[in-house]
Amino acid sequence: MVEGRPRIVFVPYPAQGHITPMFHLAHAMHHQHGFESILVNPNFIHNRLIASSSGATEDNHGVIYANIPDGLHDGESIDFFAISHAMENHMPCHLERLLKSFETVGGVSCVIVDLLASWAVGVAERCRIPVAGFWPAMLGTYRLISGVPDMIYRGLIDKNGTPLQEDATNFIKGQPKLNPEELPWLIGSPSSKRSRFAFWLRTIDRCKSLRWLILNTFHGEETNTENSLSSPRIFCVGPLPTHSPTPTLWSEDGICIEWLDKQSPSSVVYVSFGSWVDPIGDDKVAELALGLEASGKPFLWVLSTAWRSGLPKGYLDRVKGRGILVSWAPQREVLGHDAVGCYLMHCGWNSTIEAVERGKRLLCYPVAGDQFVNCAYIVDVWKVGVRLGKLERREVEEGVKRLMDGCCGDGEGGKMMRRVMVLKEQMMGRCGRLGADAELNAFVDALANWTLD
Ligand code: UDX
Repeated sequence: MVEGRPRIVFVPYPAQGHITPMFHLAHAMHHQHGFESILVNPNFIHNRLIASSSGATEDNHGVIYANIPDGLHDGESIDFFAISHAMENHMPCHLERLLKSFETVGGVSCVIVDLLASWAVGVAERCRIPVAGFWPAMLGTYRLISGVPDMIYRGLIDKNGTPLQEDATNFIKGQPKLNPEELPWLIGSPSSKRSRFAFWLRTIDRCKSLRWLILNTFHGEETNTENSLSSPRIFCVGPLPTHSPTPTLWSEDGICIEWLDKQSPSSVVYVSFGSWVDPIGDDKVAELALGLEASGKPFLWVLSTAWRSGLPKGYLDRVKGRGILVSWAPQREVLGHDAVGCYLMHCGWNSTIEAVERGKRLLCYPVAGDQFVNCAYIVDVWKVGVRLGKLERREVEEGVKRLMDGCCGDGEGGKMMRRVMVLKEQMMGRCGRLGADAELNAFVDALANWTLD
């Protein structure tokens, strides 16, 4: 048992979209529940967090950063496979050493592990410390992923995850429809599909023992779904507040806020594909660029240098003054700006929450993983966005106009605007420390009553 201030160790998956919500959870556990919150990252992430945020130290807004060796070398390209290798082969013994180092100073009350970092579940169990899972996305995706063994058993998918039936994805009652090729584990290069699916099978298997699962999701996000999940016990603590400070892996380019200040209200299209998307290819970048140009609207586009080779010749000169490109934006500030009228996005879950909380309508082009499920909710359930079928210039132009023209009238854009404001109210009600707080309290109670089997 922990003496003095109880301590929780948080283990995120090492990517921005996972570190962000885990940090917000650690922040809430510290400030609302008095825990000492320790966020553990591999060295390559820790070094970037320190480098990108000038103020980052060992203690960040009450969250203590700890780092462990990852076996990665300077200059090595760090992709999904390099990270998986580091997580499986290098990080477990270092986490174990870190957890044991707390034994002389009161121990650890709980280890909270992102399901994508499931390697850490066994480490916490070996140290006989209570462990909870954390799913940074929506309940709908968790249901789909945790339903994989059942889907294989029922012959809906084969043992490599390939759909065998047209309605393979639609076995969960009340979920919006997905195309079979949009199952979260099917997206990515064909050569990597098998290993990605193996990653998910390993995750599901390791998480079978979890007693608790914390989700960055909010009640009411999914209407008419049956909650058939009895184990693990689910705590929907989301949306975690996105207004507290967030560590970022890249330096934010503040120039875009000065530029937004000069634009008219609701006039700008904000474009960003998050932090962790396979390149969409030069031809699609070109189509997107031409569609934005043809829409005639001002735009702010987060486009990394690696993707800029797709821009048409002379493009930047042509759109000068009307469009700006940055490598990394202070996204939550951008989405909160009055000048932003809609958000052309990849449907990452954090970005979805951030946009709805700030009352922005969405133009969707999902690319990978859970983004297709999120998109189905945005477009078909909540009806606060439009999906681009193809990333083709005319579709982009039309999509932007559909959303942006008439944000107050009775047209499509106006209706979406009203719906997004209702959804925002629904979300903020939870976020406003009512339901979300009750769930977090329930988790803290469960932890206090934990007994070793
Ligand atoms: C991925 C998946 O897409 C997401 O659905 C899953 O839940 C987590 O892993 P990512 O692709 O990074 O995440 O997207 P998203 O979840 O939207 O997170 C991106 C984060 O980066 C957001 O919090 C966003 O505010 C931030 N961001 C993005 C910036 O701060 N600046 C930018 O310029 C772009």
